[in-house]
Amino acid sequence: MNIDLGKLIYPLFVKKGRYLREEIVSMPGVYRFSPDMLLDQVLCLQKLGLKHILLFGVPDKKDWDGKLAYADKNIVAEAVGLLKKSFPEIIVITDVCLCSYTSHGHCGVIKDKRKGIDNKATLSSLCRIALSHAASGADYVAPSAMAENQVRAIRKALDRKGYKKTKILGYSVKFASNFYGPFRDIANSSPRFGDRSTYQLDYTDRENALKEIKDDIEEGADIIMVKPGLGYLDVVEEAKRKFKHPLAVYNVSGEYSMVKKGAQSSLWKEKDMVFEIISSIKRAGADFIITYHAKDIARWLNN
Ligand code: PBG
Repeated sequence: MNIDLGKLIYPLFVKKGRYLREEIVSMPGVYRFSPDMLLDQVLCLQKLGLKHILLFGVPDKKDWDGKLAYADKNIVAEAVGLLKKSFPEIIVITDVCLCSYTSHGHCGVIKDKRKGIDNKATLSSLCRIALSHAASGADYVAPSAMAENQVRAIRKALDRKGYKKTKILGYSVKFASNFYGPFRDIANSSPRFGDRSTYQLDYTDRENALKEIKDDIEEGADIIMVKPGLGYLDVVEEAKRKFKHPLAVYNVSGEYSMVKKGAQSSLWKEKDMVFEIISSIKRAGADFIITYHAKDIARWLNN
C-alpha cells in the first residue's frame, strides 16, 4: 500500500488535568488526553513514523465569548509548548476556532442572537487565538471558524507580531455536514441553538466551494483544505487541478466512526476499508490527509 506516513496528519484532543486518557464512545480509539499523556501519545506516534499532528483544545469552562481560547496559558498553548520542547521535529498544527470554548457552541462571537455571528469581533478573537498558539511554537495555525477573511486577518496579525514563519492551513471549504457528529461529542461543541449553515458551506454548492479555495490562496493560506473527504472528492479533484496548491483533505469523525462501527459489526475488515478510503482521497488529489486512522495505518504499515 503506497501511503506516505509523512503526509498523514493525526488529530489529537487535549484537556487540562493529569493522567487523563478518556475514550470517546462515538469514536473508538480516539481519546482526550491531559498534556502529560499527550506527550506519551506523541512519542508513540513519532516512533511509528508519523510527523504531523492537528491539535484541538477541550477547555474545562466555557463562556459566551469563548475567552479561554486565547487566555494566557490556554490549554492548546500549554500543550504546544510542551510538545515542541520534547519533539521539535513533530509538525504541530493547531485548530483555531471558538466552538468548543463558547457556551452557545458556535464558531464565532455572537453579540446579538438575531444577527448571528459578528464577523469583525470573530476575526479579532481568531487572531488572538492564532497569536497565542504561534507564541508557544505552533508550526501551523488552522482557522476553522469559516469567518470571512479569516486567513488574511490571521496572516496580517502573525506578520505584524513577528511570526512570519508560522504557516496557515486554511479550512477553505468546510461543508455544513452531518459527518461532524462524533467530533462534537469529543469537543463538546454542538451548537446550543440554530446550526452552522450560515457560515459553513451548503453541500450542494460546488461553485462557492471553489471560490472559497481561491480566496484562501489569495489571502495567504500555505495549505488549503477540503472537508469532509469522501463525499467531496469531486471538489478535491477540481481544486487540485485548478489551483495546484498544497491541498489537505479532512477525513472527518463521522467517516471514521462509520468504518470503526462497521468493522465492529463484521461488515468489513477495518484495514482493507481504511486503505481503500485513503487511496481514494489520495487519488483525487490530496497531498495531506487528516485522519483519525493515521495511527492504525502507521501500525499496519510497520508490521
Ligand atoms: C469546527 C470544527 C468541526 C470539526 C473540526 N473543527 C466541525 C463542526 O463542528 O462544525 C469537525 C472535525 C471532524 O468531524 O472530525 N471548528
